[in-house]
Amino acid sequence: MKTFYLTTAIDYVNGSPHLGHAYEKVLSDVIARFRRLMGDQVWFLTGTDEHGQKVQQSARKHGVDPQAFVDSVSQEFRALCAKLEISNDDFIRTTEERHKRVVRQILQQLYDKGEIYKADYKGFYSTRQEQFLQDKDRNPDGSWPELFGEVTEITESNYFFKLKAYQDWLIEHIRTHEDFIFPRYRAKQVLEFLKEPLNDLCISRPRERLEWGIPLPFDEGFVTYVWFDALLNYYSAVADKPGIWPATFHVIGKDILVPPHAVYWPIMLQAAGLPLPRSLLAHGWWSINGAKMSKSTGNFVDAGTYCDTYGVDALRYFLIREMSVGQDSDFSQAQFLTRYNTELANNLGNLVNRTLNMTNRFAGATVPAAEVAEAPETDLRALWEKTRDEAIALHETFQFHVALERTFAFITSTNAYIELRAPWKLGKSSDPKDQALLRTSLATMAEALRLGVTLLAAVMPGTTRKIQGVLGYTPGSVWADELVWGNRLTGCKVAATAILFPRATA
Ligand code: MSP
Repeated sequence: MKTFYLTTAIDYVNGSPHLGHAYEKVLSDVIARFRRLMGDQVWFLTGTDEHGQKVQQSARKHGVDPQAFVDSVSQEFRALCAKLEISNDDFIRTTEERHKRVVRQILQQLYDKGEIYKADYKGFYSTRQEQFLQDKDRNPDGSWPELFGEVTEITESNYFFKLKAYQDWLIEHIRTHEDFIFPRYRAKQVLEFLKEPLNDLCISRPRERLEWGIPLPFDEGFVTYVWFDALLNYYSAVADKPGIWPATFHVIGKDILVPPHAVYWPIMLQAAGLPLPRSLLAHGWWSINGAKMSKSTGNFVDAGTYCDTYGVDALRYFLIREMSVGQDSDFSQAQFLTRYNTELANNLGNLVNRTLNMTNRFAGATVPAAEVAEAPETDLRALWEKTRDEAIALHETFQFHVALERTFAFITSTNAYIELRAPWKLGKSSDPKDQALLRTSLATMAEALRLGVTLLAAVMPGTTRKIQGVLGYTPGSVWADELVWGNRLTGCKVAATAILFPRATA
């Protein structure tokens, strides 16, 4: 079986993690967990992108050497992963030896093949920002914006990678591999970009301008351009692990699809004679209260604080329920609280509480067997089977938000079933038929709850575990079997109470 190899973008360590980083990790984690539940062998990689100008500048600003700086910020990203319960198998840092070795090896190989050449580069350079500028950076009147300081035209020798030679091949690859770019409409954007002739890619920076990078193996006077270095993480992390490469999915944000992931990366692999990833999955961006996320203006959400206040699963649920993969979305405290209170505290929380309370009150805390199957029971069971089949199909196509909506609709229907059967009334009757119905209703609500939370396992793993725990249930190892309606809880001893999502106020 081919390993399902999943990666996230590796984050720049010039600043602390934010909600956008958290989302990408949670989304990837849901995919990884779902594939594992489906029985796939998964390898899930995330990590940090630690070289380049911006990192060097940030380290300088903090008055520390770049290595100490990246060590500390990278640790924050690692801690965020742990907090979000990300189930990554590996965490790569581009300053690690294992990565640098592979980057240098591939550079040497491309150089030996004649895919890299040296040439003069002439352009406008901002000393203050330490970067080459392009015409698009100019003010409408042609002058340079204030932030660039003094701009001079300079000529610099650099190394170039022959992108242009692969343009027709890449267009053909994208046209003939429909699943290379997801969502599919984004492939159009890539093909649009490829209508213009590509320029070869400048992959070096002279050492006197930039120290913080991987030296070129064939010319130590230069370091590697950060994107060329960073993209190779996906390969370097598994280069010595047989059977993993190529990647199945690279999960990235829409901003880094074109050109790095959809143009540079496939061409780099093709030139190096390595197999291409199956798909790039480009997700949308979060805004906060309708505006761009920005630390300086305070329009900022700290994912860690949300986990501490509401629980990690509340945040995971919101991120996945609110955003349709590929589209943009907005994060607001009001919308977060609405979903938290109505969907998690009321709908799911109520079902858990009622199931535990009534099983304790009417059955000595032991789940009875179902004895009757009348319309309310068979309808609920039919709804379950439909919900499960749809939810799995929706997971397969990354429509997790719809899968969650359907699952919660099933939970709503289970609460409605309880209202309909009204066990609290049946409990007052000594009629044997009512008693059989009472036992049936207790068994049915517990079974429906067990099934519903099994379906939530990829998005809210901790909640699934907790609810299985209070139901006194240990699931088997085959997820698909766990999704079959089957009175599995008969005889299980349930807990007295459980507080999962206490109601929250603004
Ligand atoms: N270091 C590069 C990626 C190299 S991959 C070989 C980079 N880093 S980043 O830290 O700027 O962004 C990391 C990921 O976070 C990207 O996929 C980016 O799209 C994502 N997000 C950053 N801000 C975001 C939002 N506001 N919303 C959603 N995702 C966002 O790019």
